[in-house]
Order: sequence, then C-alpha cells, then structure tokens
Amino acid sequence: MTRRTDAFDTVDWSVPLDDRAFHLPPRFCPLYGTPLWEQMTEADRRAYSRHEASAQFAYGMWFENILVNALMRHLYHLPATDPRHRFLLREVAEEARHCEIFGEYIRRSGTPPYLPSLWLRLQGGFMKLTATRATFYLSILGGESFLDHVNRATVRDASLHPTYRRIIELHVAEEEEHRAFAKDYLRDAWPKLAFLSKFWAKFYAPLIVYTIVQASVCEEVYLKLGLSDGYRQAWENPRRRERVTEALSPYAAFLTEIGVLDWMTRPLWRAFRLIP
Ligand SMILES: [Fe+2]
Ligand SMILES: [Fe+2]
Repeated sequence: MTRRTDAFDTVDWSVPLDDRAFHLPPRFCPLYGTPLWEQMTEADRRAYSRHEASAQFAYGMWFENILVNALMRHLYHLPATDPRHRFLLREVAEEARHCEIFGEYIRRSGTPPYLPSLWLRLQGGFMKLTATRATFYLSILGGESFLDHVNRATVRDASLHPTYRRIIELHVAEEEEHRAFAKDYLRDAWPKLAFLSKFWAKFYAPLIVYTIVQASVCEEVYLKLGLSDGYRQAWENPRRRERVTEALSPYAAFLTEIGVLDWMTRPLWRAFRLIP
C-alpha cells in the first residue's frame, strides 16, 4: 500500500538527531542560567537540550491526548451541518499527526521515552472527567499559547538542529488556527454561560494551566542525566519563571478581555506565578 504524503514525510528523518546543535533553544531550557548550567560544558548543554526537547514532546503528546479527547466530545454532539464540524475533525487529524511526529522524534533521539509524572497523568485523567466544554477550550488555549512562545523562538533560530526546527515549524503553522478557533468559541460561548459555569471555569482554568506548566519541567530528565538537584534548580529558576509569564501574557490578556481573569481570580493566577 502506498502511503500518501503528509507532514510526517516532509521531515528529513535521515538526519541523525545528534548534538551538532541545540535542539530546544538554550534560553528555553529550564536549567538555563542556573549554577548547574554554568558548570556544564557546551557538549553537556547540547545533549541536555536534546533530552529536554524529547521530554517536551512527551508532555506535548500527553497534552494533545487530553485535547483530542475534548474535541471528540464536542464533535459527538455536533450535527454535520454545523460549520464547526469539519474544522474540529481536521484539528483532531492535525493533533494526531503532531503526536505521530513527536513520537518519531522521541524514538530517534536516543533519550528514554519520558512521560509526565504519574501525579500529572492522574491530574490529566481528572481533567478529562471533570472539565466542561468552556474549561476545555480555556485549557487548550492555555496549553497552546504556552507552547507557542518557545515554538516561535525555535522557528526564528537557524542555529538549532534542523530536524527539530522543521518539526516545530510544522507545529506552529497548524496551531495558529487551533488557537483562533478556541478564541472564537470562547468569545461566543462565555457571555452565554450560566453564573455557576462561569464561576467553575474561572477557578478551574488557572489550576489546569498550572498543571501544564508543571508538566514542562520533567524530573526524569535530571535523574537520567545524573544532574542531582537539577529538578529543584530548574523549577526554582527565576529565568524559567519569567519565560512562563512572558509566554502566558497574550493568553492572560485575552482572558482579561473576555472576563475569565478578573479581580476575583487574579490572586490565584499570581499565586501560581502564571502572571506577574
Ligand atoms: Fe498540536
Ligand atoms: Fe493544536
């Protein structure tokens, strides 16, 4: 059977995923600028960035899995005549393709197949069970906005590993439409929600976004590389925290615009260090 050409085939998999260059941009590595980072050689840093890239893809797949679940649930209730029907099917297909590509990177990268911790996977399961449609779209938008920041920096940086950069380039192009769809949905649905649904979503959203931020620092990477104290230094790294608020700033502005982030929930967003 001949396989049709798709995004997967536009990645040149023949290029080894080695340490000729950084994969994740150095500035976006959770350890960047910490005492441990300063002790590492250039070769160590490049290898570490490859492990981080692999872990980020693993957490990307965890997140896409939750997201596709939500999209399928939305689709389940939509007649084919609804104008959103086709878009949602396409989004599901695109997310499946992203996971296919992320999985191939992980298999070829020479790193272990990292997974978000059991605790995070349980939280993901809890979210699948308890999130309403509005909270799902808030979460989808949060996760995709958070990733978009590092992804755009990756696309701009020609010094990075070409295969990794090509994968991110494909991802950025498709995610832009996904975010636009989630925003349109929320702009339309939010004002029509009942008071209690709004109340629930307002408090649920920062919890989920915090979970996504937690998943972006993978303890296993530090254990695997023998970087004792690495996880703590990465998690407490003020530069990493700065990048989180930087990445979430357009998202926070949108939530403020539609009224999800307001005087009532702002302290919670701040307590989780999601906004400055
Ligand atoms: Fe995606
Ligand atoms: Fe997406």
